Amino acid sequence: MAQQNHIFYKWGGGIEPDLPRVDHAEDEFLVTDDGERLIDAAAGAAVTNLGHSVPGIEQIFETQSADVSYLSLSHFSHDAPESLARTLATRAPGDLSKVFYTNSGSEANEAAFKLAREYFRARGQTDKSVVVSRWQSYHGATFGALSATGNTLRRRGFEPYLTDWEHISPAYPYRWSYDGTPEEQARAAARELETTIRQRGPETVAAFVAEPVGGASIPAAAPHPSYYEEIRAICDEYDVLFIADEVMTGFGRTGPLFAMENYGVVPDMMTLGKGLTSGYTPMSAVLINDRIADEFEQTGASFAHGHTFSGNPLSAAVADFVVEKYTDGVLETGKKRGEQLAGELGHLRNHPMVGDFRAMGPMLGIEFVADKETKEPFDPSKKVYKQVYDAALERGVYTYPGKGSVDGLAGDHLMLSPPLTLSEESVTKIATAVEGAIEDVYRRLNPEVTA
Ligand SMILES: Cc1ncc(COP(=O)(O)O)c(C=O)c1O
Repeated sequence: MAQQNHIFYKWGGGIEPDLPRVDHAEDEFLVTDDGERLIDAAAGAAVTNLGHSVPGIEQIFETQSADVSYLSLSHFSHDAPESLARTLATRAPGDLSKVFYTNSGSEANEAAFKLAREYFRARGQTDKSVVVSRWQSYHGATFGALSATGNTLRRRGFEPYLTDWEHISPAYPYRWSYDGTPEEQARAAARELETTIRQRGPETVAAFVAEPVGGASIPAAAPHPSYYEEIRAICDEYDVLFIADEVMTGFGRTGPLFAMENYGVVPDMMTLGKGLTSGYTPMSAVLINDRIADEFEQTGASFAHGHTFSGNPLSAAVADFVVEKYTDGVLETGKKRGEQLAGELGHLRNHPMVGDFRAMGPMLGIEFVADKETKEPFDPSKKVYKQVYDAALERGVYTYPGKGSVDGLAGDHLMLSPPLTLSEESVTKIATAVEGAIEDVYRRLNPEVTA
């Protein structure tokens, strides 16, 4: 007799949905109880960037847990978190040289926002507290991170808990209506930050946070490089800290180790999670630049914030091992596989149901529309994102679906964010399954269409 499931699920009344049951995972495959080898074209939630069987990882768990798994970093120091911080500081761009540990992407963003506040308080700028972010963004589920998040569906119902911050337009070229060249449009979009800072009062604005390249809400949406050039200049002019949320885009997801490297712009803080441990243990971090770290050092200011498990030696040793695995060769392979996938699927740009096809390294976003000319989205009740997801899963490929891409309510898309290490053969299988899934759904929605 099947055992009762005591997990409270987030969908559909908390009741167990009909989910594939995974027995174990290998490389880019999830092997189910009945022996099916699903290809994980999403790397979980864009997490397992190195795939599911990193050689040598068991030894790290064994050695570190035999030494010490847990210590409170408030009271003890230890090699593992120190070594990881050194590794991250060495590999981070610019002067991002200090690391504050947390356990999830949401926590990393919460910590970055509070660090921004405390930095300005240490300088006597006590009115600076507002965080500006963008619509169609995702920064996490906790109250502070959700306040910055610009996704209506995720915010809905929780508004009484959310802080009165500001959101500007997303960096979403496909749906921009600014005039001019891509560069001019990007500058116009970025200048909304300046308008918002001036309207709210520069003396009240502490930080601007953005995913360098669109993630869960508008996957792989990437502005012209002038966008971040402009953002950096505006932040400098108005003394606002720029936080790059690299929780999803970090660790090779868009090609280089960090997505901001595509733009050659260095933020004041960078939040990391997901690929930091490639899913082996929960861990996240905030990278902090010298300007912020020096202010704390010179004033002796404290940061009254922290979580029990932050920087625990076991997670730190695992993360340190994992980060060392993101060699130039692995990043290059990820980029090539992404390009291969974009090459094999690129003809979907012409598909009547595909409005936008975006790719940056091994991160792809396919946006579905009811009308290609007007870019009108599907009626949300059709759940096109779910139909495509289900159809791809039936064809043996797990993808990352999403909705609300247009305005937080309407809009359907699919993200592909496979492990960087997947084989060329798997890329082709993903492409075949995704193309077939889109065609299945298109025909279901348009029964009059014949072959
Ligand atoms: C860009 C970004 N920031 C923050 C988060 C939140 O991370 P977590 O779910 O680990 O709290 C996510 C999660 O998807 C994310 O994509």
